[in-house]
Amino acid sequence: MSDLEEHAFMPIKITARSTDKPHEIAADLVVIGVWTQSAAKKSKGAYAAADAALGGALGKLAAHEEFTGKAEQQLSFPTSGKLPATTVIVLGLGGRDLNAAGAIRSFAARASRCANAEKAKTVVVAVPDGWETKVRTLVEGFELGAYRFAKYLTGDRKPKSEIVAVTFTAEKRFLPDAKKQIDLGQIIGHGVNVARDLSNEPPNVIYPKTLADAAVHEGKKHGFKVVVFDEKEIEKRGMHLIHAVGRGSTHGPRLVHLSYTPSKKAKKRLVFVGKGITFDTGGISIKPAQGMGEMKHDMSGAANMVGLMVAVAALKPQVEVHALMACAENMPDGNAYRPGDIWGSLDGKTVEIINTDAEGRLVLADALAYGAALEPDMMVDNATLTGACVVALGTTWSAFYATNEDTRGKFAAALKQSGEQMWHMPLVDEYKEQLKSECADLKHTGERWGGSITAGLFLKEFIGKTKNWVHCDIAGPASTERPYAWHARGATGHGVLTFLALVERSAK
Ligand code: BES
Ligand code: MN
Ligand code: ZN
Repeated sequence: MSDLEEHAFMPIKITARSTDKPHEIAADLVVIGVWTQSAAKKSKGAYAAADAALGGALGKLAAHEEFTGKAEQQLSFPTSGKLPATTVIVLGLGGRDLNAAGAIRSFAARASRCANAEKAKTVVVAVPDGWETKVRTLVEGFELGAYRFAKYLTGDRKPKSEIVAVTFTAEKRFLPDAKKQIDLGQIIGHGVNVARDLSNEPPNVIYPKTLADAAVHEGKKHGFKVVVFDEKEIEKRGMHLIHAVGRGSTHGPRLVHLSYTPSKKAKKRLVFVGKGITFDTGGISIKPAQGMGEMKHDMSGAANMVGLMVAVAALKPQVEVHALMACAENMPDGNAYRPGDIWGSLDGKTVEIINTDAEGRLVLADALAYGAALEPDMMVDNATLTGACVVALGTTWSAFYATNEDTRGKFAAALKQSGEQMWHMPLVDEYKEQLKSECADLKHTGERWGGSITAGLFLKEFIGKTKNWVHCDIAGPASTERPYAWHARGATGHGVLTFLALVERSAK
């Protein structure tokens, strides 16, 4: 199990069809979404139609199970041959105000999760009134909900069935560009799933070189440029901080530069940066054993860069996009960097090392300085950076910081479009005091309190002349221990959807 071989990726065949009788379509499973309002009425809609076709049995079951269409409620009905489908599942959607992208995506994800659980190959998803205009988001959700990381399971543990085809139905007409929306949704869903796959790989398989190889592979397949700087090149170019963090590992560090240039003149140039610590032991300041395995996800920011570019290369926006992956493995070793060390950086500033477990901000510092030299209109980094951020916001929200109001507004607009959960936090100037060092230009960590903020302030020292910068601390939601929204257990790809929305909005 040492090769990073690719998954057999069989795209799901997705169609959209207008009908008021979705239960008449031949499929293994029919999933019907209902608002509480329409669940109460029972006179119209896909739910009522299926109930009528079953002689009222669905309604009886609903009454018995006290199903009223509340969010998270679910009704499963085996049709015993009374309908073409083996099973009808009704999913509660709650009140009708849930129009956010996240709610729509989550509904479709619930449907594909049900399909996997039922081992259904063919699925019909009856979309509630009003959501027939949101085909792209529905398709994203279906693709993301269907995701599982099962490549290392064998025998009985191997999933027995894959979803082959899904038909989305609605009573109202789908928009004329539904086919295009389906394609977009699949591309985007695939991009996020590529990021998840890389992050879910174990750390004996994914280390800086193999992560770079994966980027090269995806670049060839999807048509974006990939340049890899190895250990020697990193040192030669003066990226001493990435080099320092990588010293303790037998797997040397890499800086990977992915790029996409549109055929017509670009409207904007965006630079994204991702933290790529393929495993974070903490180094000499070693972490406790409990839960250390989760630190295989410490390269989620870098994995997001690959996923993002896969989608960008397919969307072909009129925007120049660069994505940088700062990759190293943080290990304790006779050659490892230590607390007390002073290292230079690409930016020129010297840094006093305080705690080798604060390695993320070091590799990012050099990558940000490299990104700044590309003179972007906006630079956005994402990193599983601090436990402090998880304490502040919990495991399902990340933090973002911005250098000015305009940039903050643009990023917030992208967030609204994506439906991802990120909260704005302040770059508190007065805490900069904490990063003063006696013997170098900067200390690399501050006090315990406000740890996510001081990490952001440290990074800000390396963005050079970049005016519009956003820093995302994704330590919480980059991975999850339990499935929620459109995520399975493990890596989520949190961030990709928002970055993509930002790219799309920059093309306008
Ligand atoms: N990768 C960790 C942060 C992290 C914690 C990610 C929990 C995901 C879940 C990071 O490299 C780290 O170790 N940060 C330290 C910084 C501290 C030493 C200043 C932390 O947060 O404890
Ligand atoms: Mn660390
Ligand atoms: Zn880390």
